[in-house]
Amino acid sequence: MSRQLREVVFVDGVRTPFGKAKGQYAETRADDLVIKCISELMRRHPSLPPEKVDEVAIAATTQIGDQGLTIGRTAALLAGLPQSVPGFAIDRMCAGAMTAVTTTAAGIAFGAYDVVIAGGVEHMGRHPMGEGVDPNPRIVSEKIVDPEALSMGNTAENLHDRYPTITKERADAYAVRSQAKTVAAYEAGKIQPDLVPVATRSAEDGWGLATTDEPVRPGTSMESLAGLKTPFRPHGRVTAGNAAGINDGATAALLADEETARELGLPVRMRLVSYAFSGVEPEVMGAGPIPATEKALAKAGLTIDDIDAFEINEAFAVQVLSLLEHYGIADDDERVNPYGGAIAMGHPLASSGVRLMTQLANSFAERPDARYGITTMCVGIGMGGTVIWENPNWNGETK
Ligand SMILES: CC(C)(COP(=O)(O)OP(=O)(O)OC[C@H]1O[C@@H](n2cnc3c(N)ncnc32)[C@H](O)[C@@H]1OP(=O)(O)O)[C@@H](O)C(=O)NCCC(=O)NCCS
Repeated sequence: MSRQLREVVFVDGVRTPFGKAKGQYAETRADDLVIKCISELMRRHPSLPPEKVDEVAIAATTQIGDQGLTIGRTAALLAGLPQSVPGFAIDRMCAGAMTAVTTTAAGIAFGAYDVVIAGGVEHMGRHPMGEGVDPNPRIVSEKIVDPEALSMGNTAENLHDRYPTITKERADAYAVRSQAKTVAAYEAGKIQPDLVPVATRSAEDGWGLATTDEPVRPGTSMESLAGLKTPFRPHGRVTAGNAAGINDGATAALLADEETARELGLPVRMRLVSYAFSGVEPEVMGAGPIPATEKALAKAGLTIDDIDAFEINEAFAVQVLSLLEHYGIADDDERVNPYGGAIAMGHPLASSGVRLMTQLANSFAERPDARYGITTMCVGIGMGGTVIWENPNWNGETK
């Protein structure tokens, strides 16, 4: 039997507005957030018959309670997809949704699927980081992982140590720009189309509607960040201002084999070029995107100079800056995170990968001069993930 690799395309991505833990989604179930995203994708693409969806892969880091029970399957059923559509749950912590995309994309390329839904959810208010974990004692006694590396904030302080040129001032300046870019993107109406409003309920306040990201802090300045506590180390550099917060939210993307997308009249917003995951020392997990990007570029036969658009997850400012410094890219390069990032919008762990992809697709639509773009993120226990995409709207002009 002969096989042919098929092109995988990103048809569309949506997300809920992100919330602050104990904020707008305090009394909303985690699974309801991702169900909303799946229903919205189906609503936006009526030419896609629901029974044509071959798989629903949904990531969550803490897979218990309302994030458990094989959430891809249960969310698909609750979103009204036919019983014939299967689903599964997936976990690679912060890169959960990214891994849901790459895993199902590989299935599309192989021919196992024509159309899939991949996404993620994390309700960090209902499921605090580390809930229910039971690390094998040998991981510590055999010095495989420093117990301090299980706190992501500590690993960000360690990364500052590794890159002494990345000062707190540089991290704060990056955070100020991230907030300002997100505020500007909202004012220009560039974030709202990605969002699916979510009805919220509070025993005290009654019903409400979440329509914007709750964590955004307009007016953030170097002065307002300067005096914030450094919770992970006395006189450290990582603060609530230059880190992503503790957030709730969900995302979902529609991916397809390119030919199927054309047959069904689905849009082609990005074409998958390559992807890679890589491990680093858990103590400096924020460095993970560097080898992952090297690997993904090598697989694609590209160099960093071929990349015209970047969506880098801002778990911590220092982690973005270490990647930029590695490649000699300026801290304020306008190709990087043009709509701001997780420092402003929030980072509900397993959901963020698809937010990056959706925003890269928006950049591609705005920028026919850009041929290739990357989405990249760091991952707990020392990993990074990078996906390279091609812009179908590229105007063909070579640099
Ligand atoms: C850094 C962290 C510990 C802060 O938690 P927190 O103290 O609950 O955060 P808060 O939102 O209460 O902010 C702390 C203070 O900073 C202030 N602050 C936060 N962002 C600010 C901003 N942009 N401008 C001005 N002040 C700001 C808050 O107002 C608050 O002030 P207060 O103490 O006077 O009320 C937490 O957000 C965290 O752990 N983030 C990392 C999450 C993570 O590891 N994700 C996985 C990545 S791999």
